[in-house]
Amino acid sequence: MGRIRLAPAISTEGAPTTKIGVMSIGILTSGGDCPGLNAVIRGAVLKGTQIYNQEFVGFRGGWRGVVEGDIMPIERKDIQGISKQGGTILGTSRTNPFEGDGGAERVRENMARLGVDSLIAIGGEGTLAAAKRLTDAGIKIVGVPKTVDNDLSATDYTFGFDTAVQIATDAMDRLRTTGDSHGRCMVAEVMGRHVGWIALHSGMAAGAHVILIPEQKTSLDQICAWVQSVKDRGRAPLVVVAEGFHLDSMDDPHSERGLDAFGRPRLGGIGEILAPIIEERTGLETRATTLGHIQRGGTPSSYDRVLATRYGMAAVDSVMHQRWGRMVSLSGTSITHVAFEDALGKLNTVPQSRYDEASILFG
Ligand code: F6P
Repeated sequence: MGRIRLAPAISTEGAPTTKIGVMSIGILTSGGDCPGLNAVIRGAVLKGTQIYNQEFVGFRGGWRGVVEGDIMPIERKDIQGISKQGGTILGTSRTNPFEGDGGAERVRENMARLGVDSLIAIGGEGTLAAAKRLTDAGIKIVGVPKTVDNDLSATDYTFGFDTAVQIATDAMDRLRTTGDSHGRCMVAEVMGRHVGWIALHSGMAAGAHVILIPEQKTSLDQICAWVQSVKDRGRAPLVVVAEGFHLDSMDDPHSERGLDAFGRPRLGGIGEILAPIIEERTGLETRATTLGHIQRGGTPSSYDRVLATRYGMAAVDSVMHQRWGRMVSLSGTSITHVAFEDALGKLNTVPQSRYDEASILFG
């Protein structure tokens, strides 16, 4: 049975009333995965097919699929019920499209050969930086911001963050009951390469006694003083630390697993470093737990599903309006769009006022 297609002029956004061409729109998910990626794909494909009468293909494995021309069709049947699924049906990678056999010419040739006119690139800072270089070379791309860390500026929130905070909060609630039972200090390490949003929100939600974030170098003396004061009150301390945190005595975050494809150090392990020091200095038995990729896996929260769906629909609007080199973004409760350079210029760090507010609860 053929698909039922509505006239393009139905769009609520004053969309163009003519179809921009018979070529497909390509979608890719790139960088670390994140709950909500499938909801973006579904939102884009539903609005794109139903309202704008467009065709879609997916590139497998992020920029790798674009460089290698590895595509899969995405039709309406392929996106049924996927907004509640974690991960990405397209697969992802941290491939940099300018490395190896890549480059703008290769991307342009592949797109022409495969009948793909434009791209919706769903990713974080690395993905959007590559998208900007390709757009500068004349390739038609719109971006969708993605990161559990919530570190992209020019958008109030990225999807995946809310889910990661909920997972971390649930884990800390559990750490607290076992910590309370044994009278131990529990250290929970969460994601957050450059910024401490996951640590700040999950730590506040779980009633943590110490929250350590990359934006705020802190001394061991201060950390142990907070832990000691909790111990003195007869409570079991919970310390939350972001993977990118470093002590005031360290130049860089702790990393012992080499570099990723973008040349960034693989982080993780600061919790295990802190735990024995806290134990030695306070005399309180201490255990560390690294939550790691559990924070990025599984079902997205309802908030993330809604945000991601809206992003996907807005990305298709941007394609139809030929807003190349722009990323959809959340401003308050409205979806808007910003230039890639505005999103890439600086990080969305935790402001001093938010840390000061949280730190009233420390110790
Ligand atoms: O960028 C998001 C993030 O989850 C960071 O918090 C973390 O450092 C990194 O990805 C982990 O990446 P990978 O999946 O390559 O281990």
